[in-house]
Amino acid sequence: TRRIRLGDFARAKREGRRWAMLTSYDQYTASIFDDAGVWALLVGDSAANNVFGHETTLPLTVEELLPLARAVSRSSRRAFVVSDLPFGTYEEGPAQALRTAVRFMKEGGAHGVKLEGGVRVAEQVRAITDAGIPVMGHIGFTPQSEHQLGGYRVQGRGEAADRLLADAHAVQDAGAFAVVLEMVPGDLATRVTAELSIPTVGIGAGPGCDAQVLVWQDAMGLRTAGTARFVKQYAQMAQVLEQAAATYVDEVASGAFPAAQHTFADSPVQA
Ligand code: KIV
Ligand code: NA
Repeated sequence: TRRIRLGDFARAKREGRRWAMLTSYDQYTASIFDDAGVWALLVGDSAANNVFGHETTLPLTVEELLPLARAVSRSSRRAFVVSDLPFGTYEEGPAQALRTAVRFMKEGGAHGVKLEGGVRVAEQVRAITDAGIPVMGHIGFTPQSEHQLGGYRVQGRGEAADRLLADAHAVQDAGAFAVVLEMVPGDLATRVTAELSIPTVGIGAGPGCDAQVLVWQDAMGLRTAGTARFVKQYAQMAQVLEQAAATYVDEVASGAFPAAQHTFADSPVQA
């Protein structure tokens, strides 16, 4: 199996073939999703919520996310690995953004980086792509600015559509190879997808996008409380794990585990 590269995303857009992206923050999800045919793995700053237990993505640091990027890039053979740039590590300008992006490529082993914002981060996107680093944009609802946006809300409704279109074009013109559209009305996402020559990756943006992304703990039902309307649950991981753990607890208490086959004899058994 050969690594998915930028040319594959461009070709898929031309040929109208849709592809899937999932978040991943560790070895097993990376290799399992890779084997399942997921084209791109996102080491999302949603690790703040889904790995480290924070309420927002804001507290996540480079030092926390870097080792997760390393684990995911080491453990996937085919998927294109994108790492988020944490809040506060690119807003100051192109120099800061490039510095952070280089760390995720060099120390994290990522194949590209993602940062939030449209027009306001165009210079950052340009500086990073000029350095030979693929950039995925992220517009619409951007969780790192949730306090400014007033919570998890659909973006680009009504007159705000023009601003969203401007953001989409700004990241494309700055050199991004793809752009995430988060919580955008379906019709607007379809229009953005038609206008752009780079793929759109939807999350809560309807079926008109070139690709889709979900947070894996949401998609696989590990997190079940307070999931958004745009999430589809493909498995019931929380239920599976809780039942298994409860059975283990019971069997330890009853003495059913460990059994003879889990126990070493004084001399090795001959085959
Ligand atoms: O961090 C994340 O998981 C993301 C996706 C939801 C797009 O940015
Ligand atoms: Na993110």
